[in-house]
Amino acid sequence: MYKKFIKKVDKYEAGKPIEDVAREYGLEPDSILKLASNENPLGTSPKVVEALKNAVEEVFLYPDAACYELKHKISEKYGIPVEELVIGNGSDHIIRMIAIATLGPGDTAVTSQATFVRYKHATLLTGAEILEVPHKNWHYDLEAVANAIDETTRLIWLACPNNPTGTIFSSNEFEKFMSKVPSHVWVVLDQAYYEFAINDPEADFPDGMAYYKSRGYPNLIVMRTMAKAYGIAGLRVGWMAAPAWFVDIVERIRGPFDVSRLAQVAAVAALEDDEFVEKTVELVLNEKKWLYRKLDELGIHYIKSYTNFIFMRTGFDGRKLFEAMQRRGVIVRPIFADWVRVTVGRREDNERFVKVFEEVRKELEKENKTLHSEGAWV
Ligand SMILES: Cc1ncc(COP(=O)(O)O)c(C=O)c1O
Repeated sequence: MYKKFIKKVDKYEAGKPIEDVAREYGLEPDSILKLASNENPLGTSPKVVEALKNAVEEVFLYPDAACYELKHKISEKYGIPVEELVIGNGSDHIIRMIAIATLGPGDTAVTSQATFVRYKHATLLTGAEILEVPHKNWHYDLEAVANAIDETTRLIWLACPNNPTGTIFSSNEFEKFMSKVPSHVWVVLDQAYYEFAINDPEADFPDGMAYYKSRGYPNLIVMRTMAKAYGIAGLRVGWMAAPAWFVDIVERIRGPFDVSRLAQVAAVAALEDDEFVEKTVELVLNEKKWLYRKLDELGIHYIKSYTNFIFMRTGFDGRKLFEAMQRRGVIVRPIFADWVRVTVGRREDNERFVKVFEEVRKELEKENKTLHSEGAWV
């Protein structure tokens, strides 16, 4: 026996791990460049590494189930009361817990097409339906999302900045949207790439935590991750701010030890190292400009990004391009038809990406692998 609706859920195909590619193609792991999962181009903060070394001998002990120190650190840094915080095993875990808390058969969650696929996954796992409103040139169409709300709608998933497109919506659009959403419908604003957008002078987007703290929207949940700018993707820490009564519900779903001891130690150290985050953001903003220039020279169309990745239209079947680049030790992420997502790296990484892309382009052109038609999502 199993719940039949689980069969509607696709298994998640994560960005290829370096170890897999090394094995498949007989390459040295150290020679492989992974630009597929939007990890931190500078790696991990040395302060985090130090904190982990000091904590490693304590791993025989269970983690602190209450995440006391980490919650207090977040509370202090962001001005959110401790009772309004939930820490998860990555924000992916937070997404699943929100879905379990709010959705079930007969309910609907609304989101956009071309957004983070885990919203769909978490929604379908509860037996609820997901409604994916068409995007507007790879941007959320918030008006259409609001218009899609009906009596079955319980929750709306919004990513701003969005993955895989890198796009944002404006504060104005967000406020208009919120004014149309009934207060019994949750709005989950996922800001995994917040640090890159808030430091980009060209970004007009809603600062979720500021809206949350203004207390103007009692149906707003804001999510953050420590996997990107904070550089601890491998340890899995994400968190959300939500009304205390809802936190009390979600804490009944969370396993006591879902956030490991080392993850908690690393997250606290990462939150104390502002300099590392600043360096990361500065590098990403500069390198993104460098990559834009190169893509312009190559005649590759891309969407302006407010994240640490670029969503680009390569003109080649994304999977073919991905395989050909992988054979040369560079892992990118095919997304849809000839659209590919590439994480912004350090200068030497980006130079290697451009060089390998040019080689592969010549190879695929020779094989006449140009993609003319719109393909299916991959
Ligand atoms: C929009 C968005 N939300 C959430 C996540 C998940 O982050 P985490 O690693 O904290 O689970 C990602 C990861 O890529 C993301 O792009």
